[in-house]
Amino acid sequence: MTEVVLGVSGGIASYKAAELLRLFTESGHSVRVVPTESSLHFVGAATWEALSGKPVQVGVFEHVDEVAHVRIGQAADLVLVAPATANILAKAAHGLADDLLTNTLLTARCPVMFAPAMHTEMWENAATQANVATLRARGHVVLEPAVGRLTGVDTGKGRLPAPAEIFRAALSVLEGRVQDLRGRHVVVSAGGTREFLDPVRYLGNRSSGRQGFALAEAAVARGATVTVVAANVSLPAPAGVTVVPVVSTEDLRREMHLAAVDADAVVMAAAPADFRPAEFVDAKIKKTADGTTPEIRLVENPDILVELVAARSSKHPVIVGFAAETGDAHATVIEHARAKLARKGCDLLVVNDVSAGKVFGQDDNEAVLLGADGTVEQVPFGPKSALAHTIWDAVVRRLD
Ligand code: CTP
Repeated sequence: MTEVVLGVSGGIASYKAAELLRLFTESGHSVRVVPTESSLHFVGAATWEALSGKPVQVGVFEHVDEVAHVRIGQAADLVLVAPATANILAKAAHGLADDLLTNTLLTARCPVMFAPAMHTEMWENAATQANVATLRARGHVVLEPAVGRLTGVDTGKGRLPAPAEIFRAALSVLEGRVQDLRGRHVVVSAGGTREFLDPVRYLGNRSSGRQGFALAEAAVARGATVTVVAANVSLPAPAGVTVVPVVSTEDLRREMHLAAVDADAVVMAAAPADFRPAEFVDAKIKKTADGTTPEIRLVENPDILVELVAARSSKHPVIVGFAAETGDAHATVIEHARAKLARKGCDLLVVNDVSAGKVFGQDDNEAVLLGADGTVEQVPFGPKSALAHTIWDAVVRRLD
């Protein structure tokens, strides 16, 4: 049975840690809650003792004979601090040890993960950012906070990611994923763009964003800092990623260029619309009395992937494209894909056979990974998360 230490520090979001705790216990993990003194203003020790079925201790001078300040960290398979306040991040970054949680962080030899929650100003403060960078450089996983409603009337970055999302990220870390994307910034596009004809109608496509989000989640588990530019995705965002929502291909293009400036890897998993209406009509297009139907003239959208390859920074990011193909009378799926890889100029092309409605909106996927260096890797039918990890494996081999 895996031993999880759930550190709870003093933020209003600490009540959400109760749900997180249940997700662990109900899936057979043993959880020991180690709250900080200030967190007890929000959720009392009795709650943690009842939900975890274990005693709760805050300081290091109770039950001294058990040497809890050393034992708990030593025995843990994962130490997860959720919510992590600016204060606990600062203490952890500087190695302070003035309560049981900070002692546990110092003695843990297992993976350590923080799910920060605080006001936007505190998160963006240079001191907090420096502490986060220090913790990440040491190999700890620090999730990006989510964006949304904060305490009071404020809205912004700093919300605790949803307990289910933190749980998923924690499971990936527990699976022993190598932190081979640590210190790397990866940018993933997801979803499908919409091109508006008038204020209510658009041309769109069936991309759900599942594969892009699976890539983002897998990259977080491998230690990367992840930006997802998400076009009309209605799925919950994976914990710890920065999501930039966009609508049209032009929005996606702008945000991808911005995010790619300092990226180590860029994955174009989104399905941008290839065409957009030549003009946008300001008012809703009405039916006419004589029954004539409107003609829609289309113009071609820029190819973002080709542009990203051309604009590659001196960091020389690894650039990955996707190709959803069907074979036809002229060529097979792979022949079309090879031609596309050459045309796009990217390093890797993930080829999906979408004949007969496969892939779109489903959880499983199969693919072939074509490398610009001639490599061909067949990825068997399986969850999109497995394909995501295979793609990152191929990216990691090409970094540096
Ligand atoms: N792509 C892009 N910008 C576009 C269209 C596509 O960046 N305007 C990217 C997609 O995100 C994907 C790759 O290019 O990574 C291939 O997309 P696909 O639609 O298969 O390519 P197309 O160039 O549109 O080719 P086709 O003529 O087969 O539609």
